[in-house]
Amino acid sequence: MKDKKSIIIYFSRADENYAVGYIEKGNTEVIAEYIRDLTGADMFKVERKEPYAKDYQTCIEEAQVEQNNNERPELLHTLESIDEYEVIYIGSPVWWGILPQPMVTQLEKLNFEGKTVRVFTTHEGSGLGSIPSQIKRICKGANVLEDGLAIRGSTVNNSKNRVEDWV
Ligand SMILES: Cc1cc2nc3c(=O)[nH]c(=O)nc-3n(C[C@H](O)[C@H](O)[C@H](O)COP(=O)(O)O)c2cc1C
Repeated sequence: MKDKKSIIIYFSRADENYAVGYIEKGNTEVIAEYIRDLTGADMFKVERKEPYAKDYQTCIEEAQVEQNNNERPELLHTLESIDEYEVIYIGSPVWWGILPQPMVTQLEKLNFEGKTVRVFTTHEGSGLGSIPSQIKRICKGANVLEDGLAIRGSTVNNSKNRVEDWV
């Protein structure tokens, strides 16, 4: 897997978060960077054009409305193609069991036919949630491997060994 050209597509939110207070780098981004260091994969960070609020409670409210309405929020930058890659790592926090909506906006724009997909999440109890099945639905034609990696957000700084084993 390490020899194949790969990219990590991920969402991660810094600022105030559950169980960790204010953080300068999001939990999922920490894991994405471990994977990059281990594989040499390219990285693409999915960012909402209008950032979520910095405080946790307001962010929760914004995200809840967006998810309930199944919105496709606009992105700051869009990844147009993954044609040059064989392996796609998809990384995300778990938001009420599923992907934050900006990830849906991005993933729906890409052609996953024939790609190998590896899923990782950070969470505070939900594990992978329904994200693998959601990704299978969105990323049509991909071979989504069953061995997703779920890491508790508050432990990312001690998780390098687990990530290494998984990679
Ligand atoms: C809007 C929102 C919803 C969340 N929903 C869940 C959830 O359903 N299950 C869970 O285990 N953690 C949930 N969390 C916690 C995050 O998944 C966890 O803190 C994660 O590590 C954040 O990753 P990030 O720092 O990369 O954004 C939620 C956090 C936010 C902000």
